[in-house]
Amino acid sequence: MTERAFAQAAVNNAAPILEVLRHEFRDCTEVLEVGSGTGQHAVTFAADLDHLQWQTSDLDENHAVIEAWIADAGVMNIRAPLSVDVRTADLPPDAYDGIYSSNTAHIMSADAVRDMLVLVARALRPGGIFCLYGPFTKGGRFNTASNERFDRQLRRRDPDMGLRDLLALEEQAARHGLERERLYAMPANNLLAVWRKESG
Ligand SMILES: C[S@@+](CC[C@H](N)C(=O)[O-])C[C@H]1O[C@@H](n2cnc3c(N)ncnc32)[C@H](O)[C@@H]1O
Repeated sequence: MTERAFAQAAVNNAAPILEVLRHEFRDCTEVLEVGSGTGQHAVTFAADLDHLQWQTSDLDENHAVIEAWIADAGVMNIRAPLSVDVRTADLPPDAYDGIYSSNTAHIMSADAVRDMLVLVARALRPGGIFCLYGPFTKGGRFNTASNERFDRQLRRRDPDMGLRDLLALEEQAARHGLERERLYAMPANNLLAVWRKESG
């Protein structure tokens, strides 16, 4: 049995996220995940969404654990991780009709999140869907005291980390042709925001 890294959070939130993705990615054939982490979401979601190909990606340092999860899962529609650092990655244009990323925006710096939106806007086909899950502020307001505490902990750990503001992200995304279409309230005070790339 391969040694696999394990994230309890990725187990807890998988079912509610999958319920949303089943709907949002129903017409997708090629989905890129940015920041696959351990790879747990990737194997769970690809196994269920068997009408599409799931492309994992992350910084190089996470590839071995993602590959271990893929090897153990025996799921056919999942691809080995691409090397994607959103600050430097140069993905081909219009390559995916869906992009998914979870719990990444508060780990990346604000500049890197801007880079991610530019990358997403380039890599998505016209009409493609971007699903971003995690904790966010809205108009500078925390939705719970626990998210405010979490934000303080992150900034203590690294001043470049911290919860991002959804309205600011929407403004940045719109500059690159991504319109926010839906916003799902998720368990544990998280949100799942859905953007669509303009049709051209
Ligand atoms: C908290 S983990 C979330 C992992 C997984 N998506 C999940 O929900 O369990 C944050 C992920 O963001 C990735 N990440 C951080 N900075 C990044 C960057 N500049 N480009 C791409 N991924 C990045 C990390 O490597 C890590 O896998």
